[in-house]
Amino acid sequence: MSAFDYRDDQLFVEDVALAEIVDAVGSPCYIYSRRTLVDAYHAFADALADRPSLVCYAVKANGNLALLATLADLGAGFDIVSQGELERVLAAGGDPMRIVFSGVGKTETEMRRALEVGIRCFNVESAAELTRLDRVAAALGVRAPVSLRVNPDVDAKTHPYIATGLKENKFGIPLGEAAACYARAREYPHLTFIGVDCHIGSQLTDLRPFADALDRVLPEVVRLRRAGLALTHVDVGGGLGIRYHDERPPTVAAYVALVRERLASHGLEDVELVLEPGRALVAAAGLLATRVEYIKDTDSKRFAIVDAGMNDLIRPALYGAWQNVIPARRRPGPIQEYDVVGPVCESADVFGRGRPLAIEPGDILAIAEAGAYGFTMSSQYNARPRPPEVLVDGARFHIVRERETYEDLMRGERIVRKAQWS
Ligand code: LLP
Repeated sequence: MSAFDYRDDQLFVEDVALAEIVDAVGSPCYIYSRRTLVDAYHAFADALADRPSLVCYAVKANGNLALLATLADLGAGFDIVSQGELERVLAAGGDPMRIVFSGVGKTETEMRRALEVGIRCFNVESAAELTRLDRVAAALGVRAPVSLRVNPDVDAKTHPYIATGLKENKFGIPLGEAAACYARAREYPHLTFIGVDCHIGSQLTDLRPFADALDRVLPEVVRLRRAGLALTHVDVGGGLGIRYHDERPPTVAAYVALVRERLASHGLEDVELVLEPGRALVAAAGLLATRVEYIKDTDSKRFAIVDAGMNDLIRPALYGAWQNVIPARRRPGPIQEYDVVGPVCESADVFGRGRPLAIEPGDILAIAEAGAYGFTMSSQYNARPRPPEVLVDGARFHIVRERETYEDLMRGERIVRKAQWS
C-alpha cells in the first residue's frame, strides 16, 4: 500500500495527515515517507542479496542528511559527484568504502579529499582525468581505485537534458577508446584499475536501452579481463524511471533481473555489481506541499496560484515534466480545470496545466513524486527562502531541515559603499 493515501478524504503520509504537518511547519514544505524510502532500497538490495553487489544511491537526487543516514543504516553505498556530496555522506555516517565518485569535472581538491577519506572508486571520465588523479594520488603516496566510465553511444529515449549515453554527450570515454586507456595502465603507477561503469541517462521507462548498453559494454569488460586486467566490478549506473503520469517503467525486479541475466550470459557472475539509482529510490518517497493563495479567473484560463514556485521545484519548468497535483483534502465541490502556478515572475513557473481540481483559496495541494530532484535543484530565486523538509515515520514526523530564514538569504553578503573603496 502506498504511504500517500486518502483516509476519509484526507491525504495521509504514512499515519499522519498532511494537513497536520503543514499546520505545524508551514507551507510550502517537502515531506518524505521513511517507509517508502526503505521499501525502495529493499527492492534493489533484496533482488541482489545473493550476489556480490553494492547499491550506491545517487546523492544528487536528494542529499538530505536524514535520508542519507537512513540509507547508510541500511547498508547502502553512495554515488557522489562533488566534494559537497562527499561531505554530506560522511556527515550522515556513510562508509567511505561504499562511495563511488562520478562526474566529468573533478577538481584536484575534490580528488585529494576523496583519497584522504579512502573512497571505494573513482568513476573516471577522460584520459586527462586519469593523468590528474595519478598525480594527486602520487602526491599523497596512495593508489587510487579507478573505474573507467565508458560511453556506449546508445539512445536512452529520455528527455535530451538527461540523456548521457550518446557519443555527442560530454560523458564518459568512447567505448572504442577504453581499451587504449587501460593498455596505458603502466603509465599511471598510482592508479589501480578495478572496474568499468556506464550511465546512459535518467528516467528510462523501457529496458531496451539498458540492454543495448550492457550488450555493448560487457563484451568489452570480458575482452579486458582476457587481456589480463583484474577488473572486479561493473557499475551499471542509475537511470531507472518511475511512474509520474502514464509511464509504465519496468519494476526494480525486472530491471535487476535483466542486469543479472546479461552479466551471467557474459560469464561475469563473479564481478561485483554496482548500481547508482537515484530517482527510483527517492522520487516516490516525497511530495511538495503548497497552499493555494489565490484563484484567478481570466477569459481564457483559471489559475490556482500557490505559494511554492519554480525555485522550490524546477522539474516542470525545466524539462516540461508532468507531476501529479492532488488536494490534501478532497472537497465535494465542483471539479474545474486549473493551471497550477507559482508566484515567481516567469511564465515557466507552472506546476501543471489544466488540472482537474475542486479547491478553494487556503487549501493545501501536494505535488507528487517530488522526492527526487526536488529540493536538490531548488534555489532562492526571487529571494525566496527554501522550504523545510520533513521526514515522516509512522505516526510521527520530524523536521529534518529548517525553513530558511531571511537572514539565510543574505548570509555571507557584504555591502561595500563607495567611501570604503580607497
Ligand atoms: N549515476 C550518474 C553518473 C548520474 O549522472 C545520475 C543522474 C545517476 C547515477 C542517477 O540517475 P537516476 O537513477 O536518478 O536516474 N534532474 C533530472 C535528472 C538528472 C539526472 C542526472 N544524473 C530530473 O529531474 O529529471
